[in-house]
Formats: sequence, C-alpha cells, structure tokens
Amino acid sequence: MSTVHVIDHPMIQHKLSIMRMKQTGSKDFRQLLTEISLLMGYEVTRDLALDDIKIETPICPMTAKQISGRKLAIVPILRAGLGMVDGLLTLVPVAKVGHIGLYRNEETHEPVEYYCKLPEDIDNRLVILTDPMLATGGSACDAITMLKKRGCNQIRLMCLVGVPEGINKVQQTHPDVDIYVAAVDDHLNENAYIVPGLGDAGDRIFGTK
Ligand code: PRP
Ligand code: URA
Repeated sequence: MSTVHVIDHPMIQHKLSIMRMKQTGSKDFRQLLTEISLLMGYEVTRDLALDDIKIETPICPMTAKQISGRKLAIVPILRAGLGMVDGLLTLVPVAKVGHIGLYRNEETHEPVEYYCKLPEDIDNRLVILTDPMLATGGSACDAITMLKKRGCNQIRLMCLVGVPEGINKVQQTHPDVDIYVAAVDDHLNENAYIVPGLGDAGDRIFGTK
C-alpha cells in the first residue's frame, strides 16, 4: 500500500488558510498556490538519490553531491493542476512538463478525458502528477492510468487538499503511487465538493466564476 504524506508545515497551513477564505481573490489564490507548491515540492523530492562529484572550491578540491541521473516530469491535471506547476519549476527548473485534460461531469462526477500531451521520454521519468483537489479520486485515478498506459512506473501524486474517500480510492486503485497532501479534510458534500475545502479550485485560479 502506498504512503500518504501530509505536509502540514506551519507556513503551508497558514497559506492554505488564506486560500480557503472565500474573500481571497484569484491573484492571491494563484500566488499562494505557487508558494505552497514550491514548499511541498521540497518534501516530494526529499528522497531523490545523490551522486558524488569531484569539484574544486576556491579553497580546495572536495567531493560534493548532485542529484543522480533520474529525470523529472511535472504533469498537471487541467485546469487546476496548472496552478502547481510554476512552484515546482522554481524548485526543479530542468523538469519537463506534460498535460492531462480531465473534467468532472457535473451530474455523475465521473472524469471525462479531453487532452493528453506528455514528454516523449515520459516512461524514463519520475512523474509528479499535480491537482489541488483530491475529491472522489476519479480524476487522479484516471490520470494515473493514462500515465501507466504510456509506460510510467514512477508516479507521485501531489494535491493540496484531499478527503479520505479520494485518498482511499487512489490507494486501492494504484497502490504503488504515493500521495502528498497539505491537508486531509472531512468529507464530500452531495455535489462531491470537499468540505470544508476551498470551493472550485479551477474557477478560483482562473477567475471563471
Ligand atoms: C476538479 C479538480 C480535480 C477534480 C477533483 O477539476 O481540479 O481535477 O475536480 O475531483 P475528483 O477527485 O472527484 O475527480 P474540474 O473537474 O472541476 O475541472 P477544472 O479543473 O477544469 O475546473
Ligand atoms: N473540485 C474542486 O475544484 N473542488 C472540490 O471541492 C472538489 C472538486
């Protein structure tokens, strides 16, 4: 079974509280999501392997560390996952970026696929799949299935807010995928929105409602 990492550093909790407030506008919402994504990325990449390299400082030669050959890809689930890309790219500027387009049918809440464009060598990369909201887990599960169909076998799911329903679904369906969240909220309402949550993440990032 995969591990659920709850990254509840005080700075992240503080920033997330502001994002949850209904009066927070799109500009601040986006900025805070970027900042939290960078901070979460620090934990998502914590166990990356290091190689020894020989370098010379102005003072003397030394053996230093560098991230070993493992390449990264960031794959946001459109639309809201896009809001987590810039923070991660600040941390890992050389990462490639793929895109998976999914939206939830408003009545059935089932995900509908509409786009998939991934780096050619995605099967050789560690993939960080991003989506702020892990609600029923349907979108995340389908996105992971799409990645696996294209040969990915190293996938980490990075979300902002999850609920037990969605976390359990991903764990049952994809037990090899570790999940990183900043908070685990209480439950889903009758519209499959996270309670207390932060509302519709895509609409709040892009100001569409
Ligand atoms: C939201 C969110 C996730 C999905 C989560 O996207 O960004 O992708 O819902 O719900 P689930 O866990 O129940 O699948 P939405 O369908 O609203 O699309 P959007 O980002 O384009 O607004
Ligand atoms: N998608 C969102 O944007 N918010 C939720 O609470 C659930 C799904």
